[in-house]
Amino acid sequence: IKKIGVLTSGGDAPGMNAAIRGVVRAALSEGLEVAGIYDGYLGLYEDRMVNLDRYSVSDMINRGGTFLGSARFPEFREESVRSVAIENMKKRGIDALVVIGGDGSYMGAKRLTEMGFPCIGLPGTIDNDVAGTDYTIGYFTALETVVEAIDRLRDTSSSHQRISIVEVMGRYCGDLTLAAAIAGGCEFIVLPEIPYTREELVEEIKAGIAKGKKHAIVAITEHICDIDELAKYIESETKRETRSTVLGHIQRGGAPVAYDRILASRMGAYSIELLLQGYGGRCVGIQNEKMVHHDIIDAIENMKRPFKGDWLETAKKLY
Ligand code: F6P
Repeated sequence: IKKIGVLTSGGDAPGMNAAIRGVVRAALSEGLEVAGIYDGYLGLYEDRMVNLDRYSVSDMINRGGTFLGSARFPEFREESVRSVAIENMKKRGIDALVVIGGDGSYMGAKRLTEMGFPCIGLPGTIDNDVAGTDYTIGYFTALETVVEAIDRLRDTSSSHQRISIVEVMGRYCGDLTLAAAIAGGCEFIVLPEIPYTREELVEEIKAGIAKGKKHAIVAITEHICDIDELAKYIESETKRETRSTVLGHIQRGGAPVAYDRILASRMGAYSIELLLQGYGGRCVGIQNEKMVHHDIIDAIENMKRPFKGDWLETAKKLY
């Protein structure tokens, strides 16, 4: 391998810049050349790339977002589109690719690998929903952001003795909601992994009121229900003023916290080690604090993320 490409794909996450920097600096230190690809697989297809040197990634470790840009590009499912992407890389002498993104982005890396082009995936998403790793790049920063928002909601819902519903990102994974709810002292938690009915939730809230709770915060993962509707329902059933807040894309921005920078740097450097050892079609993870790698196909198709049931049990004891 003489030259590698690096791209960020899917929803951006704090720490993606630190990961690009890790890839670039580690590759250069091994005598490899690096090309940065703009806007994920879209830029790969449209042949928009730039050679990166060590200064291209200066002052990047602390910056949120991704300076290469990111995009969702469903057309990459088509083999003809991927063939153009491979040709574009070959033309520029690129012989391996590092993809930083979520599991949707891993699918593209898997398909390129199947077409004979070696790829390594790094988990970059705030959702913490990628198999084969305890944590994804961006998750801990988003967690801090969500907890800070919940703290602010607590102030106002306490002053007004209201119920607050806060919707947290995570796609179909409740990790971010659960961790933020524990750290933010939320009274009720609704997660995609656990079946829920609004009637049961209201019963729990009423039990809380009977215990003497003056206000409450309900943390709920996105895509479960319309939280404005839920707020109306709770208000009509409990006779307590209820407000809903969707945190939205605020959760995706901001400077990465130290842990995300370290994780991104370690994973970026590790991807180069793997490529130099001749690996392709692997995805990088951290498990029990150690860098690990798994078959990308296995991670997508067979490996399941364990649900933190014990965390939820603990949270319920603290309601
Ligand atoms: O995967 C990251 C994420 O922020 C999810 O939590 C959310 O469901 C989705 O991306 C939002 O996507 P978009 O930025 O395309 O609206």
